[in-house]
Amino acid sequence: MDEGGSRLRRRVSVRKRARPSPGEPRQERAEEPGAGSRRRRTAEAQPLQSNDSDEDLFGDCDSFAENSFLAQVDDAERQCMQDPERGAHAAGLGAEGLRGAGGAAAAGGFADWETDEPVSSRRRREEASAQRGPWDGLPSSQVLYFGNAENPPAGAGDRRPEERGWEAPSLDAPIEAFPRSSVEQHQQPDDASSEARRGSEESRRKSLKEHLKSAMTGNARAQTPVFSRTKQLKETLLSEEISVAQKTMESSSDDLGPFYSLPSKVRDLYVQFKGIEKLYEWQHTCLTLNSVQERKNLIYSLPTSGGKTLVAEILMLQELLCRRRDVLMILPYVAIVQEKISGLSSFGIELGFFVEEYAGSKGKFPPIKRREKKSLYIATIEKGHSLVNSLIETGRIGSLGLVVVDELHMIGEGSRGAILEMTLAKILYTSKTTQIIGMSATLNNVEDLQEFLQAECYTSQFRPVELKEYLKINDAIYEVDNKAENGMTFSRLLNCQYSDTLKKMDPDHLVALVTEVIPNYSCLVFCPTKKNCENVAEMICKFLSKEYLKHREKEKHELIKNLKSISGGNVCPILKRTVPFGVAYHHSGLTSDERRLLEEAYSTGALCLFTCTSTLAAGVNLPARRVILRAPYVAKEFLKRSQYKQMIGRAGRAGIDSVGESVLILQEKDKQQVSELISRPLENCYSHLVQEFTKGIQTLFLSLIGLKIATNLDDICHFMGGTLFGVQQKILLKEKSLREITVEWLRDLTEKGLLQKDVVDKPKDESFHITKLGRASFKGTIDLAYCDILYRDLKKGLEGLVLESLLHLIYLTTPYDMASQCVPDWMIYFRQFSQLSPAEQNVAALLGVSENFIGKKASGQAIKKKVDKDIVNRLYLSFVLYTLLKETNIWSVSEKFNMPRGYIQSLLAGAASFSSCVLHFCEELEEFWVYRALLVELTKKLTYCVKAELIPLMEVTGVLEGRAKQLYNAGYKSLIHLANANPEVLIRTVDHLSRRQAKQIVSSAKMLLHEKAEALQEEVEELLRPPSDFPSVEASSTEKA
Ligand SMILES: Nc1ncnc2c1ncn2[C@@H]1O[C@H](COP(=O)(O)OP(=O)(O)OP(=O)(O)O)[C@@H](O)[C@H]1O
Ligand SMILES: [Mg+2]
Repeated sequence: MDEGGSRLRRRVSVRKRARPSPGEPRQERAEEPGAGSRRRRTAEAQPLQSNDSDEDLFGDCDSFAENSFLAQVDDAERQCMQDPERGAHAAGLGAEGLRGAGGAAAAGGFADWETDEPVSSRRRREEASAQRGPWDGLPSSQVLYFGNAENPPAGAGDRRPEERGWEAPSLDAPIEAFPRSSVEQHQQPDDASSEARRGSEESRRKSLKEHLKSAMTGNARAQTPVFSRTKQLKETLLSEEISVAQKTMESSSDDLGPFYSLPSKVRDLYVQFKGIEKLYEWQHTCLTLNSVQERKNLIYSLPTSGGKTLVAEILMLQELLCRRRDVLMILPYVAIVQEKISGLSSFGIELGFFVEEYAGSKGKFPPIKRREKKSLYIATIEKGHSLVNSLIETGRIGSLGLVVVDELHMIGEGSRGAILEMTLAKILYTSKTTQIIGMSATLNNVEDLQEFLQAECYTSQFRPVELKEYLKINDAIYEVDNKAENGMTFSRLLNCQYSDTLKKMDPDHLVALVTEVIPNYSCLVFCPTKKNCENVAEMICKFLSKEYLKHREKEKHELIKNLKSISGGNVCPILKRTVPFGVAYHHSGLTSDERRLLEEAYSTGALCLFTCTSTLAAGVNLPARRVILRAPYVAKEFLKRSQYKQMIGRAGRAGIDSVGESVLILQEKDKQQVSELISRPLENCYSHLVQEFTKGIQTLFLSLIGLKIATNLDDICHFMGGTLFGVQQKILLKEKSLREITVEWLRDLTEKGLLQKDVVDKPKDESFHITKLGRASFKGTIDLAYCDILYRDLKKGLEGLVLESLLHLIYLTTPYDMASQCVPDWMIYFRQFSQLSPAEQNVAALLGVSENFIGKKASGQAIKKKVDKDIVNRLYLSFVLYTLLKETNIWSVSEKFNMPRGYIQSLLAGAASFSSCVLHFCEELEEFWVYRALLVELTKKLTYCVKAELIPLMEVTGVLEGRAKQLYNAGYKSLIHLANANPEVLIRTVDHLSRRQAKQIVSSAKMLLHEKAEALQEEVEELLRPPSDFPSVEASSTEKA
């Protein structure tokens, strides 16, 4: 506890000395690839912090101390790998050694593996699903649709094509023409039927037109779509069930209705979509708790893989369907948000609610007001905050019935924790009817969080698959045993007959450890750095026997082909070597397309081993039979207990493994620290509101006053008392009172020109209002550390913006924080500079960066003249972005600038997000009107840095550039094409697309299309509604009188 306190005191005391300079994460409209990483600048460069993007959870782990143990191992590996002769020799020895050492797996032969239980059961499932009819496993709405679109299956033969007619665009309704490939396979080749189709298309379009027309003539009542009878019957049944459930919920808390107050269809959908037949006992207990029934706030904490999500989902469905209010679900990473959107879209389609994405560049502020159906907003931490702000601003916060926070312990982690805390504190303060539910696997001081959230708590130690924890020291394996004296008991000696060369190459016996499980079972090897992931993957493959190549050979071959096709013909040479063995590295250096493909292959078992950074522990759900921690470090930092727990928690897959194992490899020197690591309680979770100064408390105060949540000193102090910081203030900053802290930081904001004091009679009534600059910073969610410099840069731009190319504009939207982390390669800088046109060079000259300076840097000469390093670095990153916009090829830019492709992708996402922040900043400041139109276009260009035709497809959750290209080439050219696609046809016409992905793409597209149609209808009705302040007859006659 004290540790947290003293850390904070240190940070607070340096604040005055190292006053931050400008830049910022925006928590609002634009997004956070840069957000979390936008950190207050102090005298020393801060490490890049992870953020809403799918960056590494524990920071950038690309490098570690040159003389560290890890660095030495790393170097040794690299050297050996670069020496082909040694490598080949070692490989021979290794394979031999393995046959003796790797033991069972290699000796057992592949015939045994094929019949192994988990694999065979997986196979059986796959075969069964392949044998099932094309409609099996699809949402019933789509079954109806396919029944109509294809040759009618038995029992559906009496359904006539015209029954599909819809008067209003509907979620399940085909609206536009089919893409060619789809049409070819759907349609009867006779002209009559195509004629009929054309006729029905026309009538559909006509009916839509009529709908608008009828609305325009004053009939603002909701349209009643004409459904097919079967469909109508189904919907009636469902709505009856929902209304019974609603009544049940209102009348009594004892009678829980068919399925926890929900229609029994929900239970069927869980069986159908997720294979969940029955709730775990704890899930049932938790859902039937009195506090849950009474809608009290709740925190529940269970080990990893305990099944926490299902409980949250049922509660969310209750809120959406029975209480008929919107729900916000906050998740830590973009990738997880997208996974959840894909998973829940089919529920939305079946049960009639919207699933809206608030991540990356997606999300509307304030959200669109829906006419009837309710919305489930799935958001990252930053987007969730912006959403809540916008609901408060528009007086709609009461429409939010429930907020669910996954991984609640993140409230204690950096600026993202501070943002999460602000969000929850604002909800608590402004809406008494919004329920808050938080879940986590790694919470220690839950009492503090309970006090903050005024929540009940539920905990259980349930884990569906037992987890056995092991430690490895030299060749001895110990089991973690809390009852033993030193916390561990000897388990076995590792059976490895390593040759001398192999020993040298693999001193940690990784090869022996992984070959005990792969390829039958999956295995994750957590490595401290990204570089190390790549080295370990290559090293392991060097020593795997050739037999591994035969395991699921075809799928791996397909994977390589697919990696190539999504990357415009490029494949990472390391992956090219490792994938045939079923091995891949996984870290933020990969592009999102690559990551997605590799994850998919891992989930199906085609890949059996990932060497990964800690990102994977908190990221997507990729469990393994065995989890190996290569060293007790993340980069140079010793592991925290919560990190350790998260990583080992990936071991054991519910329903597949009977047991999960973790092995932590340690050296003698780390023994003491590791024995503390395995025995001590989890770290406490502390508020970062004050520690994250410009992104925390200052941003909070600005928004409290900007949104008029609290504008005078008393109210702000009262608000602060209700934050987690307020609860922990006596631990975190005991030398000052909450009021003193509040006064001090309000003064600071006033001095910065972001707030202004109102003129009042008594100092006691001191109140504030936000200035124009303050509002612009708040609206643009600009890190207050950078708002001054942004203002100055934009102002300077007004004097001479070079618009002959995009370079100058790009420079203005290159995130400050990413620039401050950047170390240019001067030779590349110089080369790029020399290739600029005179107009482009003029941009550099205006910014004060000369060719001469860069040339001198490149040739290593000393430079006397002072040049602003931040500007030089920022311009370098602008070059990267500028080249990317011109070439739209991440791979070639990555090569040109010698930067990892994953980094370039996050730079692009960061710039897109910051560009949108700057746009909102400019919208609030009249003097910057000229930037507005320019930035709208630039933001679009940066957000979808691809060929324009792919943009509509990429709007669909989970469709990235590579996939969009494939779909486009297969004839799916618009959102409407995708929404009407038949997943079975998609699988056949698009290479390497799994059935699950195809269904998710179609569901997400349907959902998005429906959302758009609904928004248009809402707009029409809004337009035709008489204004609320329309002068009435009585009013005008009174006036006359
Ligand atoms: N009642 C159930 N029956 C069978 N499988 C279940 C059940 N509940 C959840 N699962 C499955 O268990 C797996 C783990 O569940 P979930 O992701 O909810 O765990 P979690 O508690 O959130 O873990 P973490 O802390 O790692 O996020 C999922 O694949 C989920 O589908
Ligand atoms: Mg979870």
